[in-house]
Amino acid sequence: MNFTWRSPSNIALVKYWGKHGNQLPNNSSISFTLSQAFSETTVMHESKNENGKIDLEFYFEGVKNENFQKRIEKFLGAIVPHFPFLTSSFLKIESSNSFPHSTGIASSASAMSALALGLCSIEKQLLGTLANNDDFLKKASIISRLGSGSACRSVYPHLAIWGENKGVALSSNEFAIPFLEADEIFKTFHDSILIVSSDEKTVSSTAGHELMHTNIFADIRYQQANQNTIKIMDAMRAGDLATFGLIAEEEALTLHALMMTSNPSYVLLQPNSLKLIELIRTYRNDTKQPVYFTIDAGPNIHLLYPHEIESDVQNLIKSELSKYCENAKVIEDKVGLGATQIV
Ligand code: PMV
Repeated sequence: MNFTWRSPSNIALVKYWGKHGNQLPNNSSISFTLSQAFSETTVMHESKNENGKIDLEFYFEGVKNENFQKRIEKFLGAIVPHFPFLTSSFLKIESSNSFPHSTGIASSASAMSALALGLCSIEKQLLGTLANNDDFLKKASIISRLGSGSACRSVYPHLAIWGENKGVALSSNEFAIPFLEADEIFKTFHDSILIVSSDEKTVSSTAGHELMHTNIFADIRYQQANQNTIKIMDAMRAGDLATFGLIAEEEALTLHALMMTSNPSYVLLQPNSLKLIELIRTYRNDTKQPVYFTIDAGPNIHLLYPHEIESDVQNLIKSELSKYCENAKVIEDKVGLGATQIV
């Protein structure tokens, strides 16, 4: 049997930065599920005699990839308790991304969620479990999280929340839940990614999470993130773009402030990142248009804005912003419907 899933990347509005235990977050986070940046993964399954081993062939963009294969083997080994059939299976996995490698877009969220969904499809077919769609997505979210924390938010449409928060019913550290109550305006939001640099990140998220253990601002940061999760949810319910933007920008800059104040410390923002932030804020002040930014653990600036002002923002990008991007590169993405099964 074989199953193919397409699963997107996501961009956090309230950031997950700091974890404990088995990929459990130290604060709640919320993200937009994107649509244009996705991974498509086919998992082929054949039963074999149980031998306690993971039997895997892995292809990335049509080519056998030993490095990825080792990482996936390790991951599959770690999730045998969730999928006992893995040690009596031969698996061939083929994965590809809609976006080229090294574009400055993280691929682990889309890749891990697409793989997790494929494994859940196999379980459903083999064992007849996970027939209920909510149960299916919940398990896919748990398995995605074990692969790459933030990947657990990618399986849901529009917006997803991950991490236990007293103010959010049903929230959990183990899996993400969909946020269904946002005003319609957020369901068609744009994310134009201004590529300041497509170089590999100089701090991996694994190392970054680790540094939070000794960051003196850690405890207050986790409180801030939990409060910001509630505040941004309220703002999104009310269609309050100004508060939404204020929190998104505060979160982006806090993430970088945490990196700058860690030991060792990292400065991932580049001169052009700061220039873009300044230009975005000036444009907003001058035009009163709801254009905001967020930033991941890298130098690129994600421009967030409602669909209604797309043409104005595209003019802004062309006339003023793209000259601060590497080779004028901008990747257009927008909020999407979450993961879909292709086969
Ligand atoms: O899922 P990880 O371990 O790659 O960490 C993601 C961290 C951020 O992208 C910076 C924030 C987030 O919540 O996605």
